Amino acid sequence: MKIGIDSIAFSTSKYVLKLSTLAAERGVDYAKYCVGIGQTEMSVFPPNEDIVTIAVDAAEKSLSKIDDRNSIDMVIFATESSFDLSKAAGIYVHHFLGLSDNCRIFDLKQACYSVTAALQLAKTYIAGNPNSKVLVIGSDIVKYSKNTSGEPTQGGAAVAIVVSKNPRIAEFEPYSGIYSTDIMDFWRPTYATEAIFDGKLSAHNYLKSMDICFNRYLQMSKLTIDNIDYACFHSPFCKMARKANKQLFGEKSIDNSLIYNAIIGNSCSASLYICLISLLDNTAEDMSGKRIGMFSYGSGSVAEYFSLIVADEYKSMLMSQANKNMLSNRAEISFEEYELFRNNKALQGKCYENAGKVSLAGIKEDRREYAIKETEL
Ligand code: CAA
Repeated sequence: MKIGIDSIAFSTSKYVLKLSTLAAERGVDYAKYCVGIGQTEMSVFPPNEDIVTIAVDAAEKSLSKIDDRNSIDMVIFATESSFDLSKAAGIYVHHFLGLSDNCRIFDLKQACYSVTAALQLAKTYIAGNPNSKVLVIGSDIVKYSKNTSGEPTQGGAAVAIVVSKNPRIAEFEPYSGIYSTDIMDFWRPTYATEAIFDGKLSAHNYLKSMDICFNRYLQMSKLTIDNIDYACFHSPFCKMARKANKQLFGEKSIDNSLIYNAIIGNSCSASLYICLISLLDNTAEDMSGKRIGMFSYGSGSVAEYFSLIVADEYKSMLMSQANKNMLSNRAEISFEEYELFRNNKALQGKCYENAGKVSLAGIKEDRREYAIKETEL
């Protein structure tokens, strides 16, 4: 039985900061951002948007491509920027999607790796329950402290993936190369709102993990490097993915996979899967039957190299033009608004739009209150 990605979509903020603006304010040569780390813009989130609201938007888009929502009996929400240590963010999302209550819902955490863990779990679950579907969500809003080297690599997005039998986007192959090690390269203690990192150590461990995973993947699959047609890499910033690609594949182009992330920034758990969407949306040649190598890395650290085979009907499942419009229609914000958004504040007298139908209205008596757009009621 073929099991894999039947539908995939993403969402991000309606607002964007140009990194040329950040560079000017921080007194940094813009070339360091656009050439040195390979990023030109980043999504920045107004206070009425959170990991739930963008996840609902991504999931609505992904579910619009399937006709039996009731067969979803598991929702896995992968995030490293959760606002609650107990209640799963997936429960809010499940509610706004109106899915069946005959459903397991839970969150997963392991830095940027967790969507990959969720997909592996979903794959095993569908093998035992072939008539079910699993909704896997990865949603993160990434914040580093002001004036740090990580600041231009912030960003955020949500990805929503429906996993089922007979997938219409791509099938999972059975091979994985895995490597885990205990390392303090990037983490966020429960008392901190911003991630703490050792940038150089993280980049070093990313590349080391990738080499180990890739060799284990080749050993297990008996494939060779020439059998990989396309490649996607977790992309905390595009230069990291480019360095990884160069180390494995030399001059192979991964440009199409990085078009979206270069202007979204780091979306942690969603990042690798936005690379996949970008690759599928922007590759003109027919990718049916081709193998895509996928490298997933989550600091701390867990890493995995695995592969997908593109389905014959994948083109009919893409939302390429809508994705491009979503990104190009984001409104540019000023540096002042960026600083306010960082502190969950808004410019006085200005209303900010949400990506989707749900907005965070406020937090009262420790309860998050969400509002649904009137047109959606
Ligand atoms: N023009 C062009 N290029 C320039 C330049 C200029 N004026 N000035 C500097 N550069 C280049 C540098 O030569 C360097 O290039 P190479 O990497 O090819 O040598 C690059 O810009 C970066 O400059 P620095 O080496 O000075 O790096 P930095 O101290 O500014 O830190 C960073 C960069 C490590 C990526 C930092 O942004 C960071 O720590 N980010 C957060 C951690 C992170 O993303 N780690 C990635 C792996 S961990 C992971 O993947 C999990 C996750 O999602 C976080």
